[in-house]
Amino acid sequence: MDKIVVLDFGSQYSHLICRRIREFAVYCELVSFDISADELKKHNPKGIIFSGGPSSVYDSNAPIPETEVFNMNIPILGICYGHQLIVNNFGGKVKRVNKEYGSSLLSIDNDQDLLSGIGESIRAWMSHGDEAEEVPSGFEIIGHTQSANAAAIAAKDKAVYGIQFHPEVMHTEHGIKILKNFVVKICGAKQDWTMEAFIENTVENLSKIEGNVLCGVSGGIDSTVTALLIHKAIGNRLKCVFVDNGLLRLNEETEVEEMFKNNFKVNFTSIYAAERFLEKLKGVTDPEQKRRIVGEEFIRIFTEFAEKNGSFRWLAQGTLYPDVIESGVSKGPASIIKSHHNVGGLPNWLKLEILEPLRDLYKDEVRKIAGIIGVPEKLIKRHPFPGPGFAVRIVGEVTPKKLEIAKVASKIVENELDEAELYDKIWQAYATVGDDKAVGIVGDERKYGNIVMVRVVDSVDAMTADWTRLPYGLLEKISNRITNEIEDVTWVSYAISSKPPSTIEPQ
Ligand code: XMP
Repeated sequence: MDKIVVLDFGSQYSHLICRRIREFAVYCELVSFDISADELKKHNPKGIIFSGGPSSVYDSNAPIPETEVFNMNIPILGICYGHQLIVNNFGGKVKRVNKEYGSSLLSIDNDQDLLSGIGESIRAWMSHGDEAEEVPSGFEIIGHTQSANAAAIAAKDKAVYGIQFHPEVMHTEHGIKILKNFVVKICGAKQDWTMEAFIENTVENLSKIEGNVLCGVSGGIDSTVTALLIHKAIGNRLKCVFVDNGLLRLNEETEVEEMFKNNFKVNFTSIYAAERFLEKLKGVTDPEQKRRIVGEEFIRIFTEFAEKNGSFRWLAQGTLYPDVIESGVSKGPASIIKSHHNVGGLPNWLKLEILEPLRDLYKDEVRKIAGIIGVPEKLIKRHPFPGPGFAVRIVGEVTPKKLEIAKVASKIVENELDEAELYDKIWQAYATVGDDKAVGIVGDERKYGNIVMVRVVDSVDAMTADWTRLPYGLLEKISNRITNEIEDVTWVSYAISSKPPSTIEPQ
C-alpha cells in the first residue's frame, strides 16, 4: 500500500491533512516532526507533507526536521509553517508580517502540476505570521495573493512545493484537488486505501493470531467493530465481555445486551460492577485520577474474568488513531512501533497482550467499516461516548445522586434532539451536573438546588468542536423538562464555549 507521511509541526489541522488524503483512498500517517530521516525511510513514503504550526522559523526553539529529510528525493509539500521551512532550508528568506487570518484570493501563476485544474484564482484559507520574502534559487512562484507574493512555490526538478495557505481546510476552494494533485499526480501514490481492503487484510492478519481473545465491549461503535472483525477471523476463540460500570447512559446496559444478543453471533458475557466502580470513585474529584481509576478497574475485571474462564492470551480494545497519536506515542511513528504499548495508561501488572486492530483508523473510517459489515444503523449514528462515561462528565465527585441527575437530564436532551430531527446532525450532546447550586422556586417554596449544564457540539473528529446554535425554543423545552422532571434541579445552563479553548467533556 502506498503511503504519504505528514510531519506534524503542531498545527490544529495536522490530522485534517491525513483525513483528507485518506478520503481519496491514499493511506496517510501523521508522525512527529523530529522523526529521523532513517525512521522516515522505513515508512517508504511516496510523498512527505510538512504541516503548519504555531512557530516561526526564527524562534530559537523552532521545530526543524533533520536536514536529510529535505533531500531524500521524495516529493515534499510544505503547508504554511511547512512552506516557510522549505523557503528557509533552500536558501530563501522568510519575513515577519502582521498576522493574516482568514480567506484571501490566490491568483494562479502556473497551472501545471500542483495547481492544475482549479481555474485562474481561488479563495484560500490563511493563518500565518511569517511569509516568504525571497524565493530560494531553483524555485518559481506558482501562486500569489495581494499581500503574499510567494504564496505558492515549486521546484519541479526536486518535486518540492510550498504553499502558504491551508488546502486541508474546507474554506479553501479546491483544497482537496490541490492535495490530490500532489499525492496522486506528483507523488504517484495509488488510491488503494479502501475500507473493503482494510477489512480483508485485517481479518487475514487476525486469523494468524494464536490463543484466545477477550474483547472488552462497551456497546460503542469502536469496540463493536473490533469484536466483529476479530470474530470474522477467529470465531469462537473470541469472547466479548461487557462491563456495566454504572457510568453509562440511562438504560444503556440493557440496550447493549439486546444489541449483541439480537444482532451478532459472538460469545457475549455481561458483568454487573456498578458498585465496585462507585466505591473506587468515592471522594475522588481529580479528572485524571478518575480516568485512571475507571481504566484500571476495567482491566482488573477483565483480568479476573480471564483467570476464571480459561486461557486468554489477548485483550482486544477499540483504540483509534487519534488516541494513539494523542497519548504521547506520536513521539515516534505509530506504525513502526508495533509493540503493544500503553495507549490508555494500562497498568503494568497486566498480563494479557493488547490487540488493537483499529489503531490506524479515524472514526469516519470505522463508521464505514461498520456499514460494510452490517452493524445496525442506530449504532453507527450513535454519538461518541467516553470510555470512563459519566465519571468524566460529572464535575467533582461522582455520587449516585449526581449520576441519576446527569443520566436522566442527558436522556431528555437526546430525546428532544431526536424529536427535533437534529440528533444525527450533531457530534455529541449531553447534560451534566457539578457541585454548584442555585436558588429556585419549586412548588411554592424556595429551594437551593442543582445546576444542570447542557452541552451540544458540532465536530468532524472531536479534535476541534463548535457549540451548536440550537433554536431558543428547543433550549427552552429542554430546560423546562429538566427542571420539571428532575427533583432538585433549579437551573439549567447551556455551554457556549468551543474547543479550543474548552474541551467537549468538562473533566
Ligand atoms: P475532549 O473532552 O478532550 O474529548 O474534547 C474529545 C473526545 O474524546 C472523548 N473523551 C474520551 N473518550 N476516554 C475516552 O474513551 C476518555 O478519557 C475521554 N475523554 C474524552 C469525548 O467524549 C470526545 O468525543
